[in-house]
Formats: sequence, C-alpha cells, structure tokens
Amino acid sequence: MNKLQDRVAIVTGGGQGIGEAIARAFVAQGAKVAVVDVQLANAEKVAASLGDSAMACACDVGDRAQVDASVAAVTERWGRVDILVNNAGITRPAMLHKMTLEQWHLVLRVHLDGSFHFLQAVSTGMIARKYGRVINVTSTAGLLGTIGQANYSAAKAAIVGLTMSGAKELGRHGITVNAVAPAAATPMTETIRTDERFKEKYLERIPLGRWAEPAEIAPVFVFLASDDASYVTGQVLAADGGLTIR
Ligand SMILES: NC(=O)c1ccc[n+]([C@@H]2O[C@H](COP(=O)([O-])OP(=O)(O)OC[C@H]3O[C@@H](n4cnc5c(N)ncnc54)[C@H](O)[C@@H]3O)[C@@H](O)[C@H]2O)c1
Repeated sequence: MNKLQDRVAIVTGGGQGIGEAIARAFVAQGAKVAVVDVQLANAEKVAASLGDSAMACACDVGDRAQVDASVAAVTERWGRVDILVNNAGITRPAMLHKMTLEQWHLVLRVHLDGSFHFLQAVSTGMIARKYGRVINVTSTAGLLGTIGQANYSAAKAAIVGLTMSGAKELGRHGITVNAVAPAAATPMTETIRTDERFKEKYLERIPLGRWAEPAEIAPVFVFLASDDASYVTGQVLAADGGLTIR
C-alpha cells in the first residue's frame, strides 16, 4: 500500500540532490509533489520526469513573497498542502575570523528564513484542516558544529529550535514537525568527499564507513511524512551513518 496516497507535498530544493530523491520517493508512494527550487530548469526537469504527479515552482525560499506565491500555486493546482519538506540549502564556507557578513546572512537567509517562511505559509491551512507533516532539514553541523561553517552550523542548530517550537505549538492541531540530519553524496558535499585534505578524515568519523546515496536518505522522509510516524514530533532523526553517535 502506498504510504502517501493523494497527499500533497512541497519539497524545497527539489531540483537536485537529497530534495530530488525525496520528491521521487514521495511520488512513488502516491503523493503529488511540488518541486520548488531557485534553479527553475532543474525543478522543471525533475517534475517533468515525474509526470502529472509533480509540478515545478521557481522560488527563492528567502523571499517571502515568492514563498507565498508558491504555496498559492500549489493550493490552486491541488487544493491544499499536507506535507512540507524544508530542504533547500547552500553553503558559504569561511573560517570564523574571515567570514563576511554577506556569507553569514546569505546562509541564514536561505536555511533559517526559508524554513520559517514556508512553515508559516503552510501552517494556516494545515491548522484549518487539522493535519500536517513538516520535515525540516538540519545537519550534523547543527548538532556538533563544524570548522569553517559557523554560518551553516548556526542556521542548522536554529532549525532544530524551530522544529521543537513548531512541534509544541502545532501539535494540538494535528501537525507534526520533525527534522532530519542527513549525510549524503551530493554536489553540496563534493569538496569534503573528494579533497584529499578532508576525505579520509571525514570518512573515518562515519561508523558505516561510506557516504549515503540521496536515495538512501529519502525513505526517512517518507517515514516521517507518513502515518507510520503519527506519534513522532519534535525529533531530529540522524540519517548519517552513525556520525553523531556520542
Ligand atoms: N548532502 C549532505 O551530506 C547534507 C548533510 C547535512 C545536511 N544537508 C542538507 O540537506 C539539504 C539538501 O542538500 P543537498 O546535499 O541535496 O544539496 P544540493 O546543493 O545538492 O541541493 C540543494 C538544492 O537547494 C536549492 N536551493 C539553494 N538555494 C535555494 C533558495 N534560496 N531557494 C530555493 N532553492 C534553493 C538548490 O538549487 C539545489 O537544488 C540542505 O538543507 C543541506 O544543508 C545535506
């Protein structure tokens, strides 16, 4: 049986990487998916390959007007939003003492403002229908900190706070809010996976000894979006090969 039959989902950053894998896994489970991305051509390519069950939306998640327009377009096409995955992301690495304010603000804008914008934009409808599944994407960087990524780590840690507060506020309305901390082989992680200075050191920290493929991460999102996780909220599920075992 399909786990997400006829659910309507928004996946931000769905044009490639983990977001694309989530969009594909959701459609495979019967959902309708809006592939939202600032790179419209990528979103269109993914949506076209998924047929009538998918639509593409051009949207910079940091721009509230564009977020509202995306939610309106999805609602017009499919009547509602049941599932939100706040996955869009960027990195702008620099050591703390060299990080520019532009690098700092840009990363916070995409990850934190973007997640807040979409959560707020869909929450009114979810509250009215007394149903919703929200899955934010955090990172091991937000749980443990990372050298050269103060902006990214701060944004991802803040997303954990947003997740817990969202879960507490929205739980009584039948809405769950969880987060996933992934570690997968995508364009975003190319430098640490391929650069000789980081590659071996990083892999040594992963008990499973390898990076995941995005398709191995996507089922975790299917679980949290499905009724199997109806009593799970405010949690961070690490799909990281054991990297964050303490
Ligand atoms: N890959 C990993 O190991 C890993 C680890 C921890 C967390 N994450 C998180 O997982 C999520 C997906 O990462 P990924 O590895 O697939 O990255 P990716 O770079 O492959 O994909 C990110 C997508 O987000 C889109 N995007 C960027 N800025 C946007 C904006 N302003 N508005 C809308 N879309 C925007 C990009 O166009 C791209 O399609 C991110 O939140 C990332 O921080 C990834």
